[in-house]
Amino acid sequence: MKNFNILVVGAGIMGSNHVRTLESMDGVKVSVADISKEALARIKSKFPNAETYDNIDNALKNSNADACVVATPTIYHLETAIQIAEAGFPLLVEKPLATNVEDAKKIAKAAQSNNVLLQAGHIERFNPVVAKLKVNMKNLGDIVYASAHRFGVPSFRKLDNVILDLAVHDIDVLTFLTGERPKHVAGEEKKIISGQEDLSTLIFDYGSFLAAVESNTVIPIKVREMSVMGRGGIARLNYINQDLSIFKAEGDKLSYGTFDELVTRVGKGTEVRTFIQKEEPLKLELESFIRCVNNHEKPLVTGEDGVYAVAAAEAAIKSTNTGKREKIGV
Ligand SMILES: NC(=O)c1ccc[n+]([C@@H]2O[C@H](COP(=O)([O-])OP(=O)(O)OC[C@H]3O[C@@H](n4cnc5c(N)ncnc54)[C@H](O)[C@@H]3O)[C@@H](O)[C@H]2O)c1
Repeated sequence: MKNFNILVVGAGIMGSNHVRTLESMDGVKVSVADISKEALARIKSKFPNAETYDNIDNALKNSNADACVVATPTIYHLETAIQIAEAGFPLLVEKPLATNVEDAKKIAKAAQSNNVLLQAGHIERFNPVVAKLKVNMKNLGDIVYASAHRFGVPSFRKLDNVILDLAVHDIDVLTFLTGERPKHVAGEEKKIISGQEDLSTLIFDYGSFLAAVESNTVIPIKVREMSVMGRGGIARLNYINQDLSIFKAEGDKLSYGTFDELVTRVGKGTEVRTFIQKEEPLKLELESFIRCVNNHEKPLVTGEDGVYAVAAAEAAIKSTNTGKREKIGV
């Protein structure tokens, strides 16, 4: 890879992961901007080669960046992303693109009008298990149902509403897998341990299929799973282990000669074997971003994708307040 300078803005939990991953790549030079001196000191102690700035103006002027990553808390994405886009830098903005659809649209518009590449940070599209399911979707036939479980873990920090923080991942993955945007949503959420909404259960209508998306940060056990069912089969994936099983319904029959045959055969389907090269999704996401910037290619996750995920989350939050099924639009 040719030399590439990248500026990470916001060096908290996720920003530090970006710095660690970028620092491990050949030919990549990392600068970091954060308003917190403690955050910068932590970065400097772990990554002494990274240049640090406590002011984003200085960082944009002096870091010689080819592109930026925005990893500030979501409430600050709008101001940070617009400043970066107006200064003419390509940018990857962490998910969710913004806390509401109007702000998300402003970010996408700023990127478009300043002619800079914008990638939304929906990292799960780069998870090898999601990529593998994407190329195997034809085995499932027409999709009729999906369900996602994204549980844990509690945080001592104030997180976004759990729908914006966690459910957006699965909302976006379902769009990636099926090419469909969610049209309506109905949901409920509760405050269990954190004083704000930290448990949600949502039903999205994607037009041709329904999806139950469940998320919470209640217990310290991490679950990240999805099932996708079509008329021709079912796929189950585990985002963490990067395990995927796909079963086609073909070959199954509805009547069996003996009870033994029924017990051993019924509902098993035919397994589709796949091989998954396990890799860190963040590394793949950043490599793809750098490649798109260098080659002026369209990113795998566009600003528009980011806007739609926020629109779906916003409508879901509205539904939990109104108690009604809400329309999703941008
Ligand atoms: N892709 C993922 O799986 C994933 C995981 C975790 C977090 N995130 C996203 O990453 C973003 C950051 O989350 P986090 O958990 O790392 O937050 P954090 O609170 O740990 O860190 C945010 C950092 O930004 C700094 N900051 C605040 N305002 C700033 C500004 N104006 N300029 C520069 N720095 C500023 C803070 O000092 C802090 O160091 C959020 O949007 C979150 O949704 C994504």
